[in-house]
Amino acid sequence: MCGIIGYIGKSEAPANLLKGLKKLEYRGYDSAGMAVFDNGRLAVAKTSGKVSALAEKVRAEWPGERFARPPVGIAHTRWATHGSPTSLNAHPHLDASGGIALVHNGIIENYRALRARLEAKGHGFLSETDTEILARLIGEFYSGDIFDAVCGALHQVEGTFGIAVLCAQEPDRIIVARRGSPIVIGVGVDGECVAASDASVLVEHTQRVIYLDDNDAAIVRADGVEIRDLDNVPVTRAVVGLDMAPSAAEKGRFAHFMHKEIHEQPEALANAIRGRLDFTRATAVLSGMGTSPRELSELERVVMVGCGTSLHAGMVGEYAFEDLADIHAEVQQAAEFRYRNPILDRRAFVVAISQSGETADTLAAVREAQQKGAFVMSLCNVVGSTIARETGRGVYLHAGPEISVASTKAFTSQVVVLLMMALKLGRGRRLSREDGLALARAIDGVPALVSRVLEADPAIAAVAERFVEGEHAFYIGRGLMHPVALEGALKLKEISYIHAEGYHAAELKHGPIALLAPGVPVVAVACDVPGKDKTLGNIEECRARGARILGVVTEGDADTIACMDSVLTVPPAHPLVATIPAVVALQLFAYHVARLRGCPIDQPRNLAKSVTVE
Ligand code: F6R
Repeated sequence: MCGIIGYIGKSEAPANLLKGLKKLEYRGYDSAGMAVFDNGRLAVAKTSGKVSALAEKVRAEWPGERFARPPVGIAHTRWATHGSPTSLNAHPHLDASGGIALVHNGIIENYRALRARLEAKGHGFLSETDTEILARLIGEFYSGDIFDAVCGALHQVEGTFGIAVLCAQEPDRIIVARRGSPIVIGVGVDGECVAASDASVLVEHTQRVIYLDDNDAAIVRADGVEIRDLDNVPVTRAVVGLDMAPSAAEKGRFAHFMHKEIHEQPEALANAIRGRLDFTRATAVLSGMGTSPRELSELERVVMVGCGTSLHAGMVGEYAFEDLADIHAEVQQAAEFRYRNPILDRRAFVVAISQSGETADTLAAVREAQQKGAFVMSLCNVVGSTIARETGRGVYLHAGPEISVASTKAFTSQVVVLLMMALKLGRGRRLSREDGLALARAIDGVPALVSRVLEADPAIAAVAERFVEGEHAFYIGRGLMHPVALEGALKLKEISYIHAEGYHAAELKHGPIALLAPGVPVVAVACDVPGKDKTLGNIEECRARGARILGVVTEGDADTIACMDSVLTVPPAHPLVATIPAVVALQLFAYHVARLRGCPIDQPRNLAKSVTVE
């Protein structure tokens, strides 16, 4: 979604800001802009479309010396919410004087009321955005101290914000603030400070960062940071290390981040597993869960919450918890969670699953669960993310930065961590040592299984060539392979724009089968795990309607392979881990179909990497 960067230091602000915006591109956006100091006033450049277009504009409009000089500025990539993706709606927005510039992530919910009040005072607006209203409001509060003006305006705001503000009268500072939308500040190294909505932007400048909490605001100067709350009371926030290599944001030998991240999975999974399996006790060691054996044995339900791909990982977790730990488990779409007034108490174990740790709906679900006294933990990839910090206890994936909008390595790492959690819970309950050990060994073997699937990359690319045409595809699976089918369909639709739907294989004949016509592809996830025979029956129902069947099947399963028109083969595996190689094969399939269709794989239209609005 939208991205923010603010730079204050001694070198060229526009160049630093453009570099930062480039790094934010992966989040998904449709327009971009920046504001910098220029001889005592603010210069603003905005454009619809890509950061490269903004770079051209900046070079054309602020040539030579003017481009190079200003050492302070703020910039933004916008993912349209209020108003279409035009350059007028792009951020920064200015107050009425033109001396205050604002970039904003989030949504101002009471913007209509604020707009009416400002209109009554004679304000006119250039854009359709809620952000311009906030910029005007800050201007209204300004009487010589930009920090006070920002806090005054934010007291009037309902909704969410991560903001950066620049004021022509006070060129030695950028003001940042957050509520519900992340802001992280890279602290002064060699007389420069960078603030951003995403730590990956900071890695080039520093490894020492401060994450703001909700309702924090900060004065960012070249030589340091002052943090206060919105009532101007100083607060202390820890400086933490980033532990992120600058090279993590490079594509290396791959044409796309998605392809790179698919291939990083053996390493990502090894990182997720490392040190977390105890073969002597046939269990998993996940100290971040923060649960004593007694607390674990008292839990009555596991409730996972997440969105999109993370929701699908939770669906695999459902099976694992019930199967291994003999505990009722369910996964709920996070956006609905708080509105359905969930029944929770301290015996409910709520697991928030989120790669980014910033998804607004998942964060809201966490807060609701905490409010109701549930035992809440998180499963996040991004270290220091809001969900990870607010839950306090949790397990990090350690999958490394996921840049491509389509989630790949985070999904498989989520599944493997959920399996370890279920193993740990199971061993504290009724799971036998023998079964626990079998699963621990299977989990330990996952990176090698995935490497074998990756070896088939060229073969999968060849299969993909036969599925490039066409506008629809069905994905079917049963049991554990049902979430795999859903995830496979999600990958295909988001990056190739082929309309792909995942169904429980048995559900097809209750409606969707009406859409099957000769030649329509049906991707059947029919790995050799319990439920496969039933899936084969469902495949025959599709074949009888002329569908073209692409099977995801276990190597050597000749009878199943014979039922398919084409196959993606995966190595045999323990039923609970078999989901992982199957998904990896479907990630590669989706990737190659999208590549052959010439799609913008890493930044699909309309999508954002972390969805920080409700
Ligand atoms: C799909 C995808 C999304 C995310 C969803 C949740 O490839 O990436 O469906 O899974 O937006 O994001 P996180 O996991 O960051 O909460």
